[in-house]
Amino acid sequence: MPMAALNKSERNILIITLALIGLFVFSLLYAKNKYQSNVPQCLPYDKAYTQPKITQLDSNTYQVFVVAQMWQFQPSEIYIPVGSEVDFFLTSKDVVHGFNISKKNVNMMAVFGAINKTTVKFEKPGVYDIICHEFCGIGHQNMRAQVIVNYPGAK
Ligand code: CUA
Repeated sequence: MPMAALNKSERNILIITLALIGLFVFSLLYAKNKYQSNVPQCLPYDKAYTQPKITQLDSNTYQVFVVAQMWQFQPSEIYIPVGSEVDFFLTSKDVVHGFNISKKNVNMMAVFGAINKTTVKFEKPGVYDIICHEFCGIGHQNMRAQVIVNYPGAK
């Protein structure tokens, strides 16, 4: 008799569990390809930055280095032309903050000592609100910023 033989129900539970894990991984990869969703990355801390900044790489590619702190995002206004692709880098100076871009399916956490990154393409003009959706203290509900895409008066 083999060592530690499984009884039938144990074996069934194992099979169901592995099938479910497989289904979750498959769903994630399927959604990533089908909806071209950008799975956020966590970058190594050696690329840490402490100052917020906006860098233009070419006519429609930008890098935005966002610093979250109680209770603001910097930069708080990001002006870009329509059709821009923006790499958002995100970190926090203090507690954990949320980073949600309206109409853009972006949901990240700003964490002290870590950098999260995602890429977003802005194909329609308008004002996209960024809100902190992780309770971070007394000023939480006022913690917001804006991405302004081809807004009249934008530079
Ligand atoms: Cu920052 Cu809520």
